[in-house]
Amino acid sequence: MYDLLTVIKGRKSVRTFDGRPVSAGDRERLEQYAQTIENPFGVPVRFAWLDAQEHNLSSPVLSGETLYVAGIVGKVPCADVAFGYSFEKLVLYAWSLGIGTTWIGGTMKREAFERAAGLSEGEMMPCVSPLGYPAGKRSIKETLMRKGVGADSRLPAEKLFFDGAWNESLPSEKQVPISNLIEMVRWAPSAVNRQPWRIVVSNNDFHFYEKRDKGYAGEKTGDLQKIDVGIALCHFTMGLEAQGKRAEVIAADPGLAVPDGVEYIATVRTLSP
Ligand SMILES: Cc1cc2nc3c(=O)[nH]c(=O)nc-3n(C[C@H](O)[C@H](O)[C@H](O)COP(=O)(O)O)c2cc1C
Repeated sequence: MYDLLTVIKGRKSVRTFDGRPVSAGDRERLEQYAQTIENPFGVPVRFAWLDAQEHNLSSPVLSGETLYVAGIVGKVPCADVAFGYSFEKLVLYAWSLGIGTTWIGGTMKREAFERAAGLSEGEMMPCVSPLGYPAGKRSIKETLMRKGVGADSRLPAEKLFFDGAWNESLPSEKQVPISNLIEMVRWAPSAVNRQPWRIVVSNNDFHFYEKRDKGYAGEKTGDLQKIDVGIALCHFTMGLEAQGKRAEVIAADPGLAVPDGVEYIATVRTLSP
């Protein structure tokens, strides 16, 4: 397996591709890996591989892409967070092969993608991603987009990780032993780079919350910010796994007082070896 922290910190959304089709070998590796992807919520996520030309698919923010992957999930409890978790595993794996992706939840002709993906009743297709090889230089549009959302920066750990209670920043001596995990969470991608995840640390428990902004949830996409929390959870649990630590993802709401618009999502409990 690849070095996780390097892949996480090296990955950037890629919106300008060099126009080469994904090689048969890479396509096979991606499809095989996708079949192995699971999430802690036990919610199946299926992947549809869509040729851009065949289905006449495009996105106004992308150029040079020839292939897309659409993620599809049933409208069931925990669908959004499970979707975020599973789709991000594919995103990271793709990057480890040198294949660029961009989570796309908004900037696409949704109906065309849904039709091509064969979406059926009771399913939703929250996001898709292009798959391809990054061009040598970003388009001007892409460069401006990245500036607009501050894509090259992230919130500091103090704003994301709390010590036992809401908004009590985790002191630096408690950050040190988990500094790599913190970095992995910080560098997760999120819709409009809003980074809506917050984590309350309490002994062996890491309670993940969604700090919601307005305008990120819809019937077709689900709650994009829950998807973001699923992505952060994916980075965190993959990080623990890479460090050889045992952990489980469970529902263990500590019932802390939290402000309006903040919702408990799930707990990662580390277990003794
Ligand atoms: C759930 C989700 C939805 C997103 N939707 C879009 C989108 O519709 N169009 C787009 O250009 N980027 C989209 N993005 C990409 C984010 O803008 C990007 O991840 C963020 O700005 C951080 O930049 P980075 O991925 O290069 O680290 C989305 C990201 C996530 C996680």
